[in-house]
Amino acid sequence: MSIDYPQQVTIIDVGARDGLQNEKQPVPTEVKLQLIDGLIDAGIKKLEATSFVSPKWVPQMADNSDIMAHIAQNRRDDVCYSVLVPNMRGFDNAVAYRPDEVVIFASASEAFSQKNLNCSIAESIERFAPVAAAAKAQGFKVRGVISCTVGCPYEGEVTPSQVATVCKQLIDIGAEHLGIADTIGVGTPIKVQNALKAAFDYIDVANISGHFHDTYGQALANTLAALQLGVSQFDTSVAGLGGCPYAKGATGNVATEDVVYMLHGMDIETGIDLDKLVSVGERISEFLGRDNGSRVARALINKRK
Ligand code: HMG
Ligand code: MG
Repeated sequence: MSIDYPQQVTIIDVGARDGLQNEKQPVPTEVKLQLIDGLIDAGIKKLEATSFVSPKWVPQMADNSDIMAHIAQNRRDDVCYSVLVPNMRGFDNAVAYRPDEVVIFASASEAFSQKNLNCSIAESIERFAPVAAAAKAQGFKVRGVISCTVGCPYEGEVTPSQVATVCKQLIDIGAEHLGIADTIGVGTPIKVQNALKAAFDYIDVANISGHFHDTYGQALANTLAALQLGVSQFDTSVAGLGGCPYAKGATGNVATEDVVYMLHGMDIETGIDLDKLVSVGERISEFLGRDNGSRVARALINKRK
């Protein structure tokens, strides 16, 4: 069987947002900005810079305005800066900084929606509709990410038809891109492929991204399975940083370094300098006092010694 893999893949590094949002120790804005600048210097062309959520819910993202003010001063035209926005309050706070993309985030499971957004899926879609409309009116792209597309920490297994329902709802309110997330990293390749296929009826595969947390060590296999379906955009986190505050025990997204190493080994272009990326991941891991969550980074650092 011959498989046509994409020749090029876009990596969206989510380390500064998904990677740090759950971090208990305060991470100074300066350190986050160094992380973002380092990622861009390593060739990252798309990243989640921060989220305009309630600081009562996610204190680590309370410096969202400072992050975006710095970016507004130093922005690069060839980089797409994305921010998460849960409601119009968040949009109003974000709009002055002109993010390139606004990410609205719903869930395929009711219980996770309640924990993460304090409302039902239907209510979240109602809140996101004006956000999507306002973002488009400002010329910002709109990406809709769906959490718990294979499993939920509260409800267990999630079916592709649950995913399809939310895909349709997000498209109906104006999402131009859909992210399929395995929030707790329980997915295995065929299940993840089925979740991705649930989006195919609503949007071209070119506008679908995979967002795979690595809790069970399946995220790289799931990335390969997604590539086999023609998915060519992935949310990944440098050094494997992160976790979601409302998915206890879930680890970060698959490490950017690990995905880049795999892609380059398959002759798939990313535009990323792996060596520089490894240094960026090592710096933030050292700051946080954590082992580097990227296997590739650990191997390459050992080789450097
Ligand atoms: P709520 O408490 O139901 O909302 O939270 P509320 O309207 O009652 O507001 C409560 C307080 O927060 C009020 O302040 C509001 O003004 C304020 P008070 O009057 O008490 O002083 N507030 C805000 N402040 C700043 N920015 C805002 C904002 N909104 C309200 N935007 C809400 C509802 C949606 C706000 C809350 O549940 C929330 O912020 N949730 C976000 C949780 C979050 O960030 N989760 C992690 C990101 S999603 C994720 O990681 C998954 C993903 O990676 C994919 C995957 O892996 O699955 C994307
Ligand atoms: Mg996530």
